[in-house]
Amino acid sequence: MVTLLSPRPDLWTLDPGVLHLNHGSYGAVPRRTQELMAALRTETEANPMAWFRSVADQLTTSRLELASYLRTDPAGFALVPNASAGVTVALATLPIPSGSRIVLTNHAYGAVRYAAERFAKAKGAKVVVVDVPLEADDETVVSLIAPRLDQASVLIVDQISSATAMVFPIGDLVALCREHDVAIVVDGAHAPALIDAPAADGADFWTGNFHKWPASPRATAGLVVAEKWRTETLPLIVSWSEYDERLPERFDMQGTYDYVPWIAAPESLRVLDELDWPVRRTQLSNLIDEGARIIAKALATGVAEVTRPAATMRLVELPSSVDLTAAEAFKVRVSRELKAEITMTGFDGRGFIRLSAHAYNSLEDYKSLAERLPALL
Ligand SMILES: Cc1ncc(COP(=O)(O)O)c(C=O)c1O
Repeated sequence: MVTLLSPRPDLWTLDPGVLHLNHGSYGAVPRRTQELMAALRTETEANPMAWFRSVADQLTTSRLELASYLRTDPAGFALVPNASAGVTVALATLPIPSGSRIVLTNHAYGAVRYAAERFAKAKGAKVVVVDVPLEADDETVVSLIAPRLDQASVLIVDQISSATAMVFPIGDLVALCREHDVAIVVDGAHAPALIDAPAADGADFWTGNFHKWPASPRATAGLVVAEKWRTETLPLIVSWSEYDERLPERFDMQGTYDYVPWIAAPESLRVLDELDWPVRRTQLSNLIDEGARIIAKALATGVAEVTRPAATMRLVELPSSVDLTAAEAFKVRVSRELKAEITMTGFDGRGFIRLSAHAYNSLEDYKSLAERLPALL
């Protein structure tokens, strides 16, 4: 029998007077990792020269640990500040012939779509958006994308989408792209800690954030590069390692920069490990199911029927009376008046509250929001 793990807000420093229901946007760093970062910063300021002499070795140790966590080949794993940077590097590396197409879905993250637009404009290519319904199963996703790969140079696809918290069939899409000789970039921003070995499907480029679900310090993300692209893949900042033949080392030192988050990042993986993460993640899925149902009931709406929802995020439908164009102002009201942090997303003309669950959340959090939110609508 599996015992129910207790919520562990004590391991974080989150304000107990606030309901934190949106780990999916900016994460939250555990106390222990914060303490390590503070110690590393004290060390830096005691002797910046000595600190910067030590950085390269410390980065190697950290990078190897992060690659091992993803279960990916360390020779193809580089550190980047965020998933946005990972996608930008991929688009800057891949050949995008004039007249070709960069294909995305209507679930793509807004800033990733902007990146596609920037490169399409520069190369004389076109951005094509494939509409994928929220309720699509894996087979439908593949069958909708397949006919749009004609003349495509690149497919960019979410592993877990942001606005819809939906898991995409990456293995099938990698196979599809191979068949059509199209490069595939996987936006795995939400994947680390929610999907095991998230970069294992052999995409041309995969990027994912450690600063979301693994609770590592912000500005910590990874880029996994297929062997065929490793020589020509360059960091966005030109620095001293420009001519280093090894991909990961080329990305390690990018001028004078704050390397503390990258060095401290593995500490959060150890916290997750001690939290019995695989078992806890399953329990958080049950928690978020129940929490979302309670909130949907209070709003007299429903929980969106996503065929493959992300382990720890759910979409609660907003009543049609809520004006989505005023979502930002509404979130601020929820924050100020209810002391609750949520995010709202829109998809296909429908509005949702996207709820998250992490190790510090309990069912009481969702009940408390459910009691007070209807009065604000
Ligand atoms: C699917 C997806 N892609 C990309 C990003 C961008 O991540 P970052 O802000 O770390 O660059 C996010 C952020 O939430 C996301 O959800």
